[in-house]
Amino acid sequence: MSAQDDIKRLTAPDILARKSVEPIVCLTSYHAHTARLVDRHCDLILVGDSLGMVMHGLETTVPVTLDMMILQGLAVMRGSRRALVVVDMPFGSYEGSKEQAFANAARVLKETGCGAIKLEGGRRMAETISFLVERGVPVMAHVGLTPQSINVIGSFRAQGRDKADWGPIEEDALAVAGAGAFAVVIEAVAEPLARKITKAIAIPTIGIGASPACDGQILVLEDLLGLSSRVPKFVKRYGTLGPSIEAAIAAYAKDVRARVFPGPDHVYAMKSKPK
Ligand code: KIV
Repeated sequence: MSAQDDIKRLTAPDILARKSVEPIVCLTSYHAHTARLVDRHCDLILVGDSLGMVMHGLETTVPVTLDMMILQGLAVMRGSRRALVVVDMPFGSYEGSKEQAFANAARVLKETGCGAIKLEGGRRMAETISFLVERGVPVMAHVGLTPQSINVIGSFRAQGRDKADWGPIEEDALAVAGAGAFAVVIEAVAEPLARKITKAIAIPTIGIGASPACDGQILVLEDLLGLSSRVPKFVKRYGTLGPSIEAAIAAYAKDVRARVFPGPDHVYAMKSKPK
């Protein structure tokens, strides 16, 4: 058995068991090389449909397709060994019927080898979540701000900032927990509400713009690294990769124009012939 075989990948039940035990560290990744780095420090890697905006420059996540998610999910599985990899179901791939959701979720699990899927929606998706879980598909739910509904909600505004609006969001979280989701992402929700939900439900809450009381936290990797030009209020930038990358590109361009690159170390000399 190789050292590689000793590393056991975390599962959805492992993440569920972390409720109220220790914080669950999550990040997004869409590529093998970032997955390799994220895997060393995180418990869960989300191949989020935010890849539509981050990788493809789309305005929203709505145009993202199942094939796009499967391609990047496979890359992240190749790059990681330990974290649970969760792949987002894109808009239009699961809302039509429970059967549509199962057929597409089964494709994601089979074709990427990931350990779970994520879908957006609370009460309206509860029946689908039960159907999937009963058939062997671990589901992470996503409530609060649900970006795939942008054309209905109108803007990416924080939810539950008036106490009068709390009821439906609490009911959504209770419904997905009752339906068998192993965890739930709570996005852009007033802090006291996210705290209350975390106390009220038996599954881990993963906050993004929610509360430090959540059982775990997630951010989009490129936002954290300082690669995204515009970020929501809830993002803390832990790096400034944008300017570093641009400085490297500018230095390369300068060297090429000055014929300084490639230098003697970067070219192949002829084999020396035996005399
Ligand atoms: O697609 C995504 O990156 C997400 C996170 C914001 C949770 O759903």
